[in-house]
Amino acid sequence: MAAELAVHSIPGISISISGRQKLKLSDHQAFTLPRSPYLFRPKFPLLVKNRNVVKGEKHLRAVEEEQLQASAVDTQVSETDPSSSKLVLVIGGSGGVGQLVVASLLNRNVKLRLLLRDPQKATTLFGNQNEDILQVRKGDTRNANDIDPSVFEGVTHVICCTGTTAFPSRRWDGDNTPERVDWEGVRNLVSSLPRTLKRLVLVSSVGVTKYNELPWSIMNLFGVLKFKKMGEDFVRKSGLPFTIIRPGRLTDGPYTSYDLNTLLKATAGERRAVVIGQGDKLVGEVSRLVVAEACIQALDIDFTEGQTYEINSVVGEGPGCDTEKWKELFRSAQIQQMAFGSPAP
Ligand SMILES: NC(=O)c1ccc[n+]([C@@H]2O[C@H](COP(=O)([O-])OP(=O)(O)OC[C@H]3O[C@@H](n4cnc5c(N)ncnc54)[C@H](OP(=O)(O)O)[C@@H]3O)[C@@H](O)[C@H]2O)c1
Repeated sequence: MAAELAVHSIPGISISISGRQKLKLSDHQAFTLPRSPYLFRPKFPLLVKNRNVVKGEKHLRAVEEEQLQASAVDTQVSETDPSSSKLVLVIGGSGGVGQLVVASLLNRNVKLRLLLRDPQKATTLFGNQNEDILQVRKGDTRNANDIDPSVFEGVTHVICCTGTTAFPSRRWDGDNTPERVDWEGVRNLVSSLPRTLKRLVLVSSVGVTKYNELPWSIMNLFGVLKFKKMGEDFVRKSGLPFTIIRPGRLTDGPYTSYDLNTLLKATAGERRAVVIGQGDKLVGEVSRLVVAEACIQALDIDFTEGQTYEINSVVGEGPGCDTEKWKELFRSAQIQQMAFGSPAP
């Protein structure tokens, strides 16, 4: 059987893309290096149904609220799994990917707990939610003692999408560097998680296994890829059931300052088709919405346990919230890796 990667998408709600917001070198999501590794073509040609990869976008995409054409019906997703018994802890829920994870889980009526450095951000982003559905706790992952053990009580699943900028920026203020966040923060978090956990999903990055090689070494000038890899390895050795998602360069959003309804209407524009690989060979870009959905899907798909996936998105239709289609995508990546790849790092 040919190992063909199926390409699917997040369902179609259209947005307009504005290129007014220029990328800044100081932003992790704004790798303005002339030849960003995230934009390099894969050395290993992935077999995809739609290879219409969007090339070289140099501007951050911004959602223009007034042009959102979504209907609320399109965004309704019902959680069919035993959501009543599920309590998902999200760390980094105020970030670009994290707020989409939170909004989408709220839309699925999944109980959530957020660990935020500034709990007030939850109200700004998600409005006043019922405590039965959304609990917010204060904590900084860099300081193990800062995290009250009660944060982890009853938690069944965890999605960690914390991060900081790859290059020095104001977001490093107070020593919030890649070393502190992507390594020490992840280590502290993982060390505190209950052994009864059903799944830990960690958002990392493509290129973490190649941080000594050009062009990744440029991205890694301040260690972001190295420290993300250290965080990954700690997760792998933790004995906890994990899935690691490594996005390419993130596009769309962040949607900070939008309210929950707007977040739910955010879309990946035309970039809805999903490409998943293994073995750290994939390069390119991916919509934050696609990454958020991948994290949510991985929580419940048994065979993604213990696996690491790279993820991109390209122009085309895609899986939306259809679990069967996501299973096909994850499975295809594993088949391709088994058929053609070296053991996934
Ligand atoms: N940008 C890219 O192109 C790219 C490419 C590949 C992978 N990634 C990775 O993908 C992930 C998601 O990216 P993103 O753009 O959604 O991230 P983001 O918008 O930068 O959000 C980062 C989140 O981490 C939280 N955080 C930072 N330091 C923390 C700390 N010490 N303790 C607790 N929480 C902390 C932030 O909270 P505050 O609100 O308190 O700051 C925020 O919620 C990150 O790991 C990023 O490195 C990004």
